[in-house]
Amino acid sequence: MKTHEIRRRFLDHFVRAGHTEVPSASLVLDDPNLLFVNAGMVPFKPYFLGQETPPYATATSIQKCVRTLDIEEVGITTRHNTFFQMAGNFSFGDYFKEGAIRHAWSLLTSSLDDGGFGIDPALLWVTVYLDDDEAYGIWRDVVGVPEERIQRRGMADNYWSMGVPGPCGPCSEIFYDRGPAYGVDGGPEADEDRYIEIWNLVFMQNERGEGTGKDAFEILGPLPKQNIDTGMGVERVAFLLQGVENVYETDLLRPVIDTAERLSGAEYGPDSASDVRFRVIADHARTAYMLISDGVSPGNEGRGYILRRLLRRIVRSVRLLGAAGETMAEFMATVRDAIGPSFPETVSGYERIERIAVAEEAAFLKTLESGTQLFERAAESARRSGAAVLSGQQAFALHDTHGFPIDLTLEMASEAGLQVDEEGFRSLMSEQRARAKADSQAKKHAHADLSVYRDFLDAGETVFTGFTDLTDESRLLGIVSGGEAVAVAREGDEVEFVLDRTPFYAESGGQLGDRGMISTAGFQMRVDDVQKIGKKLWIHKGVLTAGEVEVGQLVTAAVDPEWRKGATQGHSATHLVHAALRQILGPEAVQAGSLNKPGYMRFDFNWSGSIPADVLAQIEEVTNYAVDADYGVNTIETTLDEAKRMGAMALFGENYGSTVRVVEIGGPFSMELCGGTHVSSSAQIGPVSLLGEASVGSGIRRVEAYVGMDAYRHQARERALVSGLATSLKAPADELPDRIAALTAKLREAEKALDSLRAAQLASQAGDLLGSAEDLGGIRFLAHSAPGGAAGDLRTLASDLRGRLGSDAGVVLLTAPGQGKVPFVIAVTPAAQERGLRAGDLVKAISPALGARGGGKADMAQGAGTEPGGIDAAVSALRDAVRDAG
Ligand code: ALA
Repeated sequence: MKTHEIRRRFLDHFVRAGHTEVPSASLVLDDPNLLFVNAGMVPFKPYFLGQETPPYATATSIQKCVRTLDIEEVGITTRHNTFFQMAGNFSFGDYFKEGAIRHAWSLLTSSLDDGGFGIDPALLWVTVYLDDDEAYGIWRDVVGVPEERIQRRGMADNYWSMGVPGPCGPCSEIFYDRGPAYGVDGGPEADEDRYIEIWNLVFMQNERGEGTGKDAFEILGPLPKQNIDTGMGVERVAFLLQGVENVYETDLLRPVIDTAERLSGAEYGPDSASDVRFRVIADHARTAYMLISDGVSPGNEGRGYILRRLLRRIVRSVRLLGAAGETMAEFMATVRDAIGPSFPETVSGYERIERIAVAEEAAFLKTLESGTQLFERAAESARRSGAAVLSGQQAFALHDTHGFPIDLTLEMASEAGLQVDEEGFRSLMSEQRARAKADSQAKKHAHADLSVYRDFLDAGETVFTGFTDLTDESRLLGIVSGGEAVAVAREGDEVEFVLDRTPFYAESGGQLGDRGMISTAGFQMRVDDVQKIGKKLWIHKGVLTAGEVEVGQLVTAAVDPEWRKGATQGHSATHLVHAALRQILGPEAVQAGSLNKPGYMRFDFNWSGSIPADVLAQIEEVTNYAVDADYGVNTIETTLDEAKRMGAMALFGENYGSTVRVVEIGGPFSMELCGGTHVSSSAQIGPVSLLGEASVGSGIRRVEAYVGMDAYRHQARERALVSGLATSLKAPADELPDRIAALTAKLREAEKALDSLRAAQLASQAGDLLGSAEDLGGIRFLAHSAPGGAAGDLRTLASDLRGRLGSDAGVVLLTAPGQGKVPFVIAVTPAAQERGLRAGDLVKAISPALGARGGGKADMAQGAGTEPGGIDAAVSALRDAVRDAG
């Protein structure tokens, strides 16, 4: 039975029993505890916990799942897939144990004609939690499973939780017996390779607290309702019903193995080491395909890193099997053809999936080439030293200069029978990280030593009043100059001011710090930059342009309103461009960084491949539509959970406090967590002009734009340029492209005509030239200089002359002296060749005089010298050489 049909039968069975069919959620859900969705119940978690009311009492789904903890097991066992489909039925306070058990049993054992899987009940075993007599009784008395095929197991096997705090409960599992050929008797308790777990029925009734592992956690108490969560492994049922040996040989994965056989020339089956590689390729290709489809791009951390690792393992495995060159496109297409019918959205988005996977492959192939050589040298020296350990330093060098992730080094080392000093590697990595961090801190704060601010930090936070005011009366709490706290500052001093309250925005979230003035009647300080220390203390940096000031004075802090207006436009424009990008490119265009200041913004995002000009134009258009719509801008202070529920975009890896600020422009159009300053309605941003896009590192693109008056000025400059061109080409602006194309074509034709004219001119000289040939003992010798002639023309003329010499013995030398160089050609007729003259050898005769290099065959040789003044000497040297042969 095909996998697609197994899915269909499952859903139909539960829909017939009144369940609502719920589509699979994305593999990537916004849950900080979960890298990927790893069970069918994940999207329903709030319903189990009673946090939300489900819109249905019972549901069924086939959820896409990814589990990568067991990545090393893939291909080695019969049943580990990193991607799999979990078929489930769920009851939210509706039926409980008996209902769940009956539903599962009837689907597994009903005949094919009745919509079931037609499994012989004698092959099924079940387990229950130690003291779950209720479940035991249902299996024995209601279903009729003989007692010898019901086993009681402990918490590690039969008590399910998500591994973190959340819903949990005892469970009952159903196993399929593959028969004595696959292992010992004795049920799942004895052998889980022979008895394959196919379905887990969780009686979700408790809430789990903190703790570790599968059995060392606290149970906090009962959930509001008794629920059911089940998970049937679609791939496992497929492997059993299809009568194959493992999950990698089912209809969904076997085609990938076939493709790998075709591309590598190796055969699946004969030797177990390469079998594992085939299975790794099959498993990983499908997982990578599904992850990319759900918006993950290869990267160096978190989800992106896992995807990168999967793709790289494919590339390595197929090369180890013997394939050369690129293979990824074929694997992706194979996965698409196999899984497409179940996930049609991956077919329509296929082009992007392939593009991302292939780009990663190309990048990794380069890395592999350089890194493998280094690895082999390191491995060799480790072996020679007899230690069989790769040092931390060597692993670090592989990482640092060749981009070899440690996992790859570990894998290659283990294949080569070597160990790796992982600890040494990690300590070098953390040193490097510390250095990078210290560097960037030092850049921001001029001096890396922050102790000078310690007392101010202890004294309390700076109060920021700049969302509502541009001017404030503040107490000057401290002055730092030359890295030290001082009491007084005078005209000309470069200083940093600490105030108790400030309207100045400090650089954060991509928005630069405000510019402005801090002053009293007695002094003026020009503020050139504002930074935050520890998210709490505002440091105003600048120069005292007049007067003198002492710590403790009351001062006026005034932001330059023009600067602020521009910065605000820049920041709001960044949000609009971000929203437009996601609208046009899709949600996988995830922000990777941004910077904005008056008149300008740039935005970096995860994306592989360039963005075509017409797509960029669409993004610009959507942005300017949003400006024109004059959307209202609202800021909302709320909790992180609530903000996420509202759909606000938050940057992964950012730390947010207990309350967050959501900036919303045009309702759902743009909603981001942001602490920046913004316009109050979008029309205040003014025009936004995209300047283009470029790559700024692997998998990251950057768009830049002018904003407001700067956008206008940019457009005005471009218009002036166009009108200047229109005047000089005497054509209206919209005819310029045609006109320029026509001019270029004309120019090309003229160049061609000129070339043939020149060639004709040279050719016409040929007859005269022949008359001037000298006779050197029966060999006709002809030397001619054609200043400025092209090398191609020289050759044409030389072969023409050689032809005209016919059966005579003859040697021709043509030179074309130009600025600092002198191309030349030597041609030798067949009769002269018979007398031992070879054009290639004759080059040697003229080389010294011309400062030349060159060479060729017996009939024709060419080259170029650097001494146009040496032509006469070259001619006489050649004459001598010919005479000697004559
Ligand atoms: N949530 C249960 C599992 O993942 C069904 O095994």
